[in-house]
Amino acid sequence: MKTTHIGLLGLGTVGKGVVEALSHQNTVVIDKVLVRDVTHHHSNLPLTTDIHEILDNPDIDIVVEVMGGIDPAYEYLATALQKGKSVVTANKEVVARFGPKLMAMAREHRQGFLFEASVGGGMPILDALTWHLNATPIHAVEGVVNGTTNFILDQMEQGMDYQAALQRAQALGFAEQDPSADVDGWDSARKLSILAGLAFHSWIDAENGYVKGITEVRAAHLHRLKEMGFGVRLVARAERHPSSIGFVVAPTVYPLGHRYLKLAGSQNAIGIFSDAGTTWIEGPGAGGLATATSIVSDIQRIRFSVPDRDPIQFESLPVENINDAYLIF
Ligand code: NAP
Ligand code: HSE
Repeated sequence: MKTTHIGLLGLGTVGKGVVEALSHQNTVVIDKVLVRDVTHHHSNLPLTTDIHEILDNPDIDIVVEVMGGIDPAYEYLATALQKGKSVVTANKEVVARFGPKLMAMAREHRQGFLFEASVGGGMPILDALTWHLNATPIHAVEGVVNGTTNFILDQMEQGMDYQAALQRAQALGFAEQDPSADVDGWDSARKLSILAGLAFHSWIDAENGYVKGITEVRAAHLHRLKEMGFGVRLVARAERHPSSIGFVVAPTVYPLGHRYLKLAGSQNAIGIFSDAGTTWIEGPGAGGLATATSIVSDIQRIRFSVPDRDPIQFESLPVENINDAYLIF
């Protein structure tokens, strides 16, 4: 079987998980790993700080991006596709902002562009949403899509204070480099854009939706609510309306026993509501090795499939705020 050559951009929480997961695949090799500073890493891997050693290397088939951020990640991914390399990314910020553009580039250059790891960490949600669950019209997509805030709220309910819970989430590798993306709700909003885009074939700019994070939730609120039989989770929901998309991310109150309140640690749960019924997918929403399983699955899919299937045509429907309908904290 032909060996597939990888250029890995980033060697942080997810990058290290990818290295570990690929160590079990003997026909996939990592040729180069891009980092900001090689002196930070004690590794036998072929490290570089020069992106051209990856983009200009004709042997590299697939660029795997796990750096995060828009700049320079977007430029690197666009260049990789233009140079005839397939791309796999975990970067929801880039996918939420430039997903349809990168998909079009990938088609033009007959390459793969896959991003399963950008939503739901190790859960197989985007593939299911794009193909299996899209056979009948989807009405809504809803879920806990941020592991850091689930972890923080879960820990606060058990008595830890907010700052200590956030620091623990950072130490465990769940949080973004700038954790305000998690706690202010923007990481969830970006993921909801991707979910809504694939569910409704209308790509949403998260900036147009109602987005509220968890920074105003206090341990005392959670304890009081618990005494009354309720809990809080940061929930993201998008709905297909006749000529718009409803879009909300907000800390929301649920009765104890609700599936969201049973999610432990950085777990996520996402429900897809369609004519055919409701399907829930739950699993590890963050973490290096869990997220790496989605990346390795995308690599294998690119290796074994022809990426020139019929493209999805995306519309551009307006966004409607639907926060009034929910019991927001
Ligand atoms: P991280 O631990 O902060 O690692 C980022 C890595 O990228 C580091 O190795 C860093 O290099 C490298 N890097 C960043 N900017 C760079 C640049 N301009 N040039 C070269 N290298 C650069 O981040 P992470 O948690 O692995 O997350 C990576 C991506 O995956 C993000 O898009 C994140 O949203 C996404 N994601 C994360 C998780 C998770 O659980 N952590 C889950 C799903 C998706 P240095 O080491 O030299 O600083
Ligand atoms: N910071 C993200 C989270 C990583 O906590 O869910 C996974 O996308």
